[in-house]
Amino acid sequence: MYNYFPLLAVGATLGVFSAAIITAYMLVKRKSKVVLGGRTMTDGELLKRLLNYAKPHAKSFVVVLVLMLFSIAYEVVSPALIGNIEELIKADFAIDDLIKYVALYVSILIVSLVCTFLHAIILQKTGQKIISKIREDAFTHIEELSHGQLSEIPVGKLVTRVSNDAESVSRMFTSVIVNLVKNVLVLLGVTAAMFALNYTLALIVMCFAPFIVLFTVVFRKFSRLAFRKEKECTADINAFLSENLSGMKITQNFNRTDLKYSQFAKKSKKFSKAAMNTIFVFGVFRPVVYFIYISSILLLFYFGGKGYLDGGKILGVEITGGIIVSFYMYITKFFDPIQNLAEQFNVMQSAFASAEKIFTLLDVSPSVKDDDGAIELETVKGDIEFKDVWFYYVEDVWVLKGVSFKIRANETVAFIGPTGSGKTTILSLLCRNYDVIKGEILIDGVNIRRYTVKSLRRHFGQMMQDVFLFAGTIRENITMRDDVTDEEIMKACKFVNADRLINKLPHGLDEELNQRSNNLSAGERQLISFARMIIHKPEIMILDEATANIDTETEALIQNSLEKLMKSGTMLVVAHRLSTVKNADNIIVLYHGKITEQGKFSELKLNEIEGYSEVLD
Ligand SMILES: Nc1ncnc2c1ncn2[C@@H]1O[C@H](COP(=O)(O)OP(=O)(O)OP(=O)(O)O)[C@@H](O)[C@H]1O
Ligand SMILES: [Mg+2]
Repeated sequence: MYNYFPLLAVGATLGVFSAAIITAYMLVKRKSKVVLGGRTMTDGELLKRLLNYAKPHAKSFVVVLVLMLFSIAYEVVSPALIGNIEELIKADFAIDDLIKYVALYVSILIVSLVCTFLHAIILQKTGQKIISKIREDAFTHIEELSHGQLSEIPVGKLVTRVSNDAESVSRMFTSVIVNLVKNVLVLLGVTAAMFALNYTLALIVMCFAPFIVLFTVVFRKFSRLAFRKEKECTADINAFLSENLSGMKITQNFNRTDLKYSQFAKKSKKFSKAAMNTIFVFGVFRPVVYFIYISSILLLFYFGGKGYLDGGKILGVEITGGIIVSFYMYITKFFDPIQNLAEQFNVMQSAFASAEKIFTLLDVSPSVKDDDGAIELETVKGDIEFKDVWFYYVEDVWVLKGVSFKIRANETVAFIGPTGSGKTTILSLLCRNYDVIKGEILIDGVNIRRYTVKSLRRHFGQMMQDVFLFAGTIRENITMRDDVTDEEIMKACKFVNADRLINKLPHGLDEELNQRSNNLSAGERQLISFARMIIHKPEIMILDEATANIDTETEALIQNSLEKLMKSGTMLVVAHRLSTVKNADNIIVLYHGKITEQGKFSELKLNEIEGYSEVLD
């Protein structure tokens, strides 16, 4: 009994530890139900979809697995070899034998190192390929979403899906799956080697296994909570930053910097606390595993040494110095994979959470898409008809209520009406940024849904109410689609009076615009987007408040160009003060989503519409 006192002492300490940890675990478990949850796809489902991405790279994974087996072999064989060397040196030894063993050891080591290097490189390369594919899929999918869907999902979230979440999923392939296999194999190999070498010492080591399993399970729970909290805080800080950095100028102008600072400081402190929490969880787990590890080493020395003194036997099984050395190494190799597995579990959880978010985005079916059997729209004459069109953005809040009108090819039609009356909405429906809820829109007598969305939009030139220019050169912003010669670009610019602006810029067409193109004035941005609209000579032109920010002198010049343009295609114009409206073939007056009257300028009774008497004067 006395002989086994150290074993009992260690067992008692671990028992007390376990009781404390189980109590803590139970307390957290109840709370965790509230914090966790929200997952709709099972791990199996996610894994299946993730593996679909890995399938094309199956060969690389097989190569990695084979190379990994060599590294595992080193882990399993090296302690036994070292033990043998130790045995050899102790006795009256032949130097040749020693050289043979050392040479064998060095060879295995080199092979293992080369294999580790190779499998790491192949794995990273494959992981990067998979992640590029996921990232590209996510981006092309976002490109297909309709305007309505895009305005529903915050931009910050989409950025996170394509960047952070894709990165997190990549770790699944580059570290989790492979390390999982490796650690499990090392664990099995080391356990088998220990039993083969000396089953009594192996059994002593195994006594610690239940405790390790217990602590690992508990650690998993705590670390999962800690990681989740940290992630939530990161997302919170990112959202706050992205909004407030964009609005920083307003914050400064309205003297709200102190308030914003205190809001940010609060979030920052919360994040630090969450990060500290994670550090604390790891700070407890690692020493606990280390304690178990050291306990088993000390017991090994105690029983091994005692057995050695007792005539080279413990419990009737032979023991040598070499065996003790080998076991010392095996125990290290036994604990390492366990600790790795426990810690990898979190990476896996976070990868699953990210994968789910990405797949949820990929599962959003675009609300505007080609109907079955949709055909290419090749040529357009330019007749347009709205037939009793009804539309809402928010269910049952009708924005257009039975709108019907006809436009003949090459006509110019103006839409006027108070703010929010549905002018922009009509133009959006025509190029299928949204689909109508009821009614039909026809181009040259055919419902626009018969055509593919891409081929339909090819025939439109649009100037949107809020101009958006991309970071890049002016040339890139004007041409957008195909390669166009500088001559053609300048011709278009001259047409809309943007040539003076471009000639004034130090680098002309090569002038770089910054992120929100705020190195141009609002009017200048409108001129560039004007040139962009006409460069491809579209059959149908849409101008939504095209000259709202342009001075009257430039507007008069543009007016001239527009009159020339009018003959080249069908034109739909929304304007409050553009004199084009006066010359339009038809003016459609909208009020609360209904057409109240239409006709030539001279025929309209605009004065009867409240607030619109001054608009066209
Ligand atoms: N994405 C959207 N989601 C929800 N409601 C919207 C959306 N876009 C517009 N609306 C609503 O639809 C109505 C019509 O908007 P629309 O942009 O067509 O007006 P408009 O006539 O172009 O006005 P303005 O003269 O100010 O440009 C408005 O009441 C507006 O609030
Ligand atoms: Mg509008």
